[in-house]
Amino acid sequence: MSQNLIIFGDARNMEELEDGSVHLVVTSPPYFNAPFDYPDLFESYDEFLSLIDTVAKQLKRVLAKGRIAALVVDDILINGRKYPVVADVTKIFIDNGFRYRERIVWVKPEGYIRISRRSGVLLQHPYPMYYYHDNLQESILIFQNGEFNYKDIPQELKEESKIDLEEYQKEKWYLNVWQITNVLPTHNRLEKGIAAFPEEIPYRLIKLFSYKGETVLDPFMGSGTTLKVAMELERFGVGYEIDKELIDVIKEKLQIGRKSLFNDSREIKIIVREDAKCLRSRLQQEVEKRVKNVQ
Ligand SMILES: C[S@@+](CC[C@H](N)C(=O)[O-])C[C@H]1O[C@@H](n2cnc3c(N)ncnc32)[C@H](O)[C@@H]1O
Repeated sequence: MSQNLIIFGDARNMEELEDGSVHLVVTSPPYFNAPFDYPDLFESYDEFLSLIDTVAKQLKRVLAKGRIAALVVDDILINGRKYPVVADVTKIFIDNGFRYRERIVWVKPEGYIRISRRSGVLLQHPYPMYYYHDNLQESILIFQNGEFNYKDIPQELKEESKIDLEEYQKEKWYLNVWQITNVLPTHNRLEKGIAAFPEEIPYRLIKLFSYKGETVLDPFMGSGTTLKVAMELERFGVGYEIDKELIDVIKEKLQIGRKSLFNDSREIKIIVREDAKCLRSRLQQEVEKRVKNVQ
C-alpha cells in the first residue's frame, strides 16, 4: 500500500486494507473505561476484550509476514478492582497466532500524576492496608507475525533506513525500560481528552521496526500521533478512528491543507464511513462531572 489514508470508522472492519499490505502497527487501544478518559465506553470488560480480539484478527490478516504489532497498554484500576489488561491482551494476540516478542516498560517522569493521587490515601491514614500507589508506567507489547526474512530487504533500503547508533546509545533504546515524558496536560492542548502518547514512542518503534517507504498502521489513531511521525520518517501512514469528532484535531496535527510540514507530494486520503460515531463531546461531559466530584 503506497498511500497515506485515514478512515473514520470502526477498526473491527479493515476492508480498505489488502492482506499483507501493512509493515508495522503502532497503536494504543482505548483504555478500558478509564474514569478520566473513557468513562463507561464499554458495557463490560468482556466487550473490551472482544474488541481487542477482533482487531487482532484483522491485524494478523493485514500485517505482512514477519512484521510487528506494537501496542501501548496497561492494567487499569476501576473502583478498587485491577483489570489485567496486559496479560489478557498478550493472551489474545498469542491465541491469534502472533509470537510474543517483547514487553518494554514506558516510565513517565515522577512529576506526572493525574487528577487523583491514590498514594495520598496512606498520607491521610498512615496505617497498614491503606497502601495504594500512583502509576507511572505503561507497557509496550511487541508481537510478531511469523518469521521475518531479512534477505527480502535490499541492502540499499537497509542503508537508507539505518538507525542512528549515537541516538540509540545516548537515549538507551537498548533497555527494556524507556524513560519518556508523556504528553503534558496543558490547558488547550490539541490532544485534550484523547489520551495521546508522546511522539517519541512511535518515533522509536517506527525507526526500529520499519523501513523507509513502508506502511505503518494505527487502528486506534486518536489525534494521529503515529501517522504524523510515520510521514515525518518517510513512511506511509494509515489510521482508523471511530470518532469523527476528531477530524479537526487530526487535520491540525497532520497539517492537512497546509504546505509546510511534509514533502508536498504526500497526499492524505480521508474516508468517513457510515459506522463512524460522535464520541468526544459525550465523553468529555462525563469526565468533567467526575473531575468535579473528586475536587
Ligand atoms: C488511546 S486513544 C489513541 C491515542 C493516539 N495514540 C494518539 O496519540 O492520539 C484510542 C482511540 O481509539 C478510538 N477508538 C475506540 N474504539 C475504536 C474502534 N472500535 N475503532 C477505531 N477507533 C476506536 C478512540 O476514539 C480513541 O481516539
